[in-house]
Amino acid sequence: MSDIKIYNEHDLEKMRKACSLAKRVLDFIGNHVSEGITTSQLDTLCHNFITTHNAIPATLNYKGFPKSICTSVNNVICHGIPCEYKLRAGDIINIDVTVALDGWYGDTSRTFMVGKCTKLARNLVEIAEKAMHVGIDAVKPYGYFSDIGNAIQNFVDEFGFSIVRDYCGHGIGDVFHSAPSVAHYKTSEKSQQILPGMFFTVEPMINAGSYKSKVLNDGWTAVTIDKSLSAQFEHTIAVTERGVEILTT
Ligand code: MF3
Ligand code: CO
Ligand code: CO
Repeated sequence: MSDIKIYNEHDLEKMRKACSLAKRVLDFIGNHVSEGITTSQLDTLCHNFITTHNAIPATLNYKGFPKSICTSVNNVICHGIPCEYKLRAGDIINIDVTVALDGWYGDTSRTFMVGKCTKLARNLVEIAEKAMHVGIDAVKPYGYFSDIGNAIQNFVDEFGFSIVRDYCGHGIGDVFHSAPSVAHYKTSEKSQQILPGMFFTVEPMINAGSYKSKVLNDGWTAVTIDKSLSAQFEHTIAVTERGVEILTT
């Protein structure tokens, strides 16, 4: 039985607004990513942008998370905490923004490159973005959630990169995280059906080395166990009878 919420057209209109704001935060902060800026400065800039647009940064105090965005640099997979670290040329940084606007959530992330990056880093970032789109392209009304991970893994395997298994996409809407858990890797078990009215994220995390992750002592920062680079892109999408709407573009 599906415990996945089905939303209506009025809800979709609310989501379009929240997700469009989250996207604009990423556009804005992308212009500030450069050598020498600290991740905590990026956090403050986003915090102010979000609050002046009458929204709330959803990660702030979420289950105790202390900041308004997640900043995940190099070997950090996700949930990096903004701090006094100064970005250096050659770094890759995922910035993950979630806003709550009028009680509706928009969640999106991109990985940015700082200055000149290695060929490996550039390739990983490119494949991570494509992997997200391959996953989204696999979403069809009346299809299955497992189609997403199957498509992403078929795509990513060829490049010798790996897909993180410990973190997944998620339902979203008038709550930040809800059912289903959206796997980005191949699964064999029969999964739930994708239906019109569902809102969820597709956010594959792709590693240059092993897929294995661990969480640092701060209780949040997820890193690759082999210290290899990790890149991620995320969109919030809506499924309609007509197909799929990417809300965070
Ligand atoms: N935005 C993240 C996601 O894609 C979740 C961040 S939760 C936090 O689901 F607490 F780490 F901020
Ligand atoms: Co998400
Ligand atoms: Co996110």
